[in-house]
Amino acid sequence: MKKLFIKTYGCQMNVYDSARMAELLAPIGYGPTDVAEEADMVILNTCHIREKAAEKVYSELGRLKKIKDARPLTIAVAGCVAQAEGEEIVARAPQVDIVVGPQSYHRLPEMIAKIARSGGHALETDFPALEKFDVLPKENSATGVTAFLTVQEGCDKFCTFCVVPYTRGAEYSRPVAQIEDEVRRLVARGVREITLLGQNVNAYCGEGPDGKMWSLARLLGRLSRIVGRLRYTTSHPRDMGDDLIAAHGDIEALMPYLHLPVQSGSDTILGAMNRQHTADDYRRLAGRIRAARPDIALSSDFIVGFPGESDKDFEATLQLVRDVGYAGAFSFKYSPRPGTPAAAARKHIPSDVKDARLQTLNTLLLEQQEAFKQGCIGRTMDVLFEKPGRQAGQAVGRSPYLQSVHVEGASQLIGTQQRVRIDGVYPNSLKGSLVREKALAH
Ligand code: 5AD
Ligand code: SF4
Repeated sequence: MKKLFIKTYGCQMNVYDSARMAELLAPIGYGPTDVAEEADMVILNTCHIREKAAEKVYSELGRLKKIKDARPLTIAVAGCVAQAEGEEIVARAPQVDIVVGPQSYHRLPEMIAKIARSGGHALETDFPALEKFDVLPKENSATGVTAFLTVQEGCDKFCTFCVVPYTRGAEYSRPVAQIEDEVRRLVARGVREITLLGQNVNAYCGEGPDGKMWSLARLLGRLSRIVGRLRYTTSHPRDMGDDLIAAHGDIEALMPYLHLPVQSGSDTILGAMNRQHTADDYRRLAGRIRAARPDIALSSDFIVGFPGESDKDFEATLQLVRDVGYAGAFSFKYSPRPGTPAAAARKHIPSDVKDARLQTLNTLLLEQQEAFKQGCIGRTMDVLFEKPGRQAGQAVGRSPYLQSVHVEGASQLIGTQQRVRIDGVYPNSLKGSLVREKALAH
């Protein structure tokens, strides 16, 4: 058996794709290894969203070249850098054998056969998303209690800073029946919580079994009959339809934690980003979601130092954060991406200003995150136990808010969801104890 090493960069959709690539290559004789040095084939599943993420790929390719100079090794670059740079990768790094985009990796077996037959390089950067899900193996190799499942691909929003519409292509939603089948297979393997993925997952509009187009809310309702816990990410504020907001109140399986990126709190910057909503639209939306599900926690992505962002614009972002209140967040310095409209702007923000703004924003977000965590003490929540803890008898579970919870005496409960009272906090997790149902009075 040959050994396959896959290194995954970037978002959860890449994590999903990497698992599918491993399944695809198993029938042609590749088994997984987590050591690059012993691999016959290495796939770098790459991310192009920010400059730093893309540059990491070339330094990794440098390291792989040293291995390849000493012995045979097939090197493939997959994912969004592959899509964006195509031939340029081979020009810059001739040690690369295969370049394959995120919508065409189901063709990897043919590509491997082609280079084995005739040498040289193989390149595929088409967008046959429809074909991909039909060709991928139906059997899923998930081993844990939680899993990701891509239901939607691509993006038509064209935020002016973002490469995704160019690297992942147009919006495409998988049919309901295909998703349902994958969920059943995951549940049969012991998966108890599934996160539905999509670049714009709440724009989901897939063919239902009745031949009509189904929304994400309807899909979630259907899947909630099959699996105990559901999440979805990442969403655009514009696509939070009434039925999806209502679903947060109606569907018990839907976990009360929503990642809803706002990027900025300034209407001027939101306009320049082509986000198509105002800061107040977002405030109102957060209010409606909380009205449907009062215990919901929100998280967001933020970009600081977008071209033209003034001190006043940045202050508006801080104000939005204070008004909405987040349990978690990711914040980034604006990074110009080749080919996107914002990269061509005239007024870029100096790097020291971006640094200072990032630090100010992060301080505020961390305060809120800490306050949320402290607020969990004394609460009782449904924890899904995932794995054994470090100490004997201990188990680590996942709270509805994606926090790790360490619980004594729960090692027999892995794979199940239990009521847990939160007793304290650790630096990156929570400590809890099982809530035993009181014995019934005689
Ligand atoms: N610069 C900085 N951050 C970016 N993101 C996307 N494109 C850029 C960019 N050019 C961030 C957004 C998005 C997250 C996945 O990455 O906040 O929500
Ligand atoms: Fe990028 Fe905007 Fe699409 Fe999200 S909605 S993937 S930020 S273009």
